[in-house]
Amino acid sequence: MKKDDLKMLEALISDTPHDVSLYANASAFLNTILADVSWVGFYLRDESGALYLGPFQGNTACIHIEPGHGVCGVSFERNETVRVDDVSTFPGYISCDAAARSEIVIPIHDKSGTPIGVLDIDSNSLNRFSDNHAEEIALLEEAAKIVEKCLN
Ligand code: SME
Repeated sequence: MKKDDLKMLEALISDTPHDVSLYANASAFLNTILADVSWVGFYLRDESGALYLGPFQGNTACIHIEPGHGVCGVSFERNETVRVDDVSTFPGYISCDAAARSEIVIPIHDKSGTPIGVLDIDSNSLNRFSDNHAEEIALLEEAAKIVEKCLN
């Protein structure tokens, strides 16, 4: 992923009148430009405060995640990016795809700064989101900010 990709993402999703369409195109775009990823998608907060499966690219995935559970629920509850170099070492990891090895989850906020979901990216390679990829991780966090900015 390159810095220019952020401009392309913003051009793609700005002025999208429905958030579900925005999330769908954002996940498709990130899945296309990122190397060595197996799943890119969003989990969104429901009325009860839990996460449900949103638009994504990749294999079928679990549809409900409680706050504090799995990488997604931990990221959402702590309101911080969580990177897992080896998912087999993460307590409570929720396995949707037996081939997944590493993962990054970045919270998504509404205009007031409240977490409303997460961007979840998986890879079949170990350490895909390790410190060696710090530059790209910073770009992914910027991509999440662009998604937030473009939400209705
Ligand atoms: N592994 C995630 C669950 C979602 S899938 O990766 C698509 C987790 O532990 O929260």
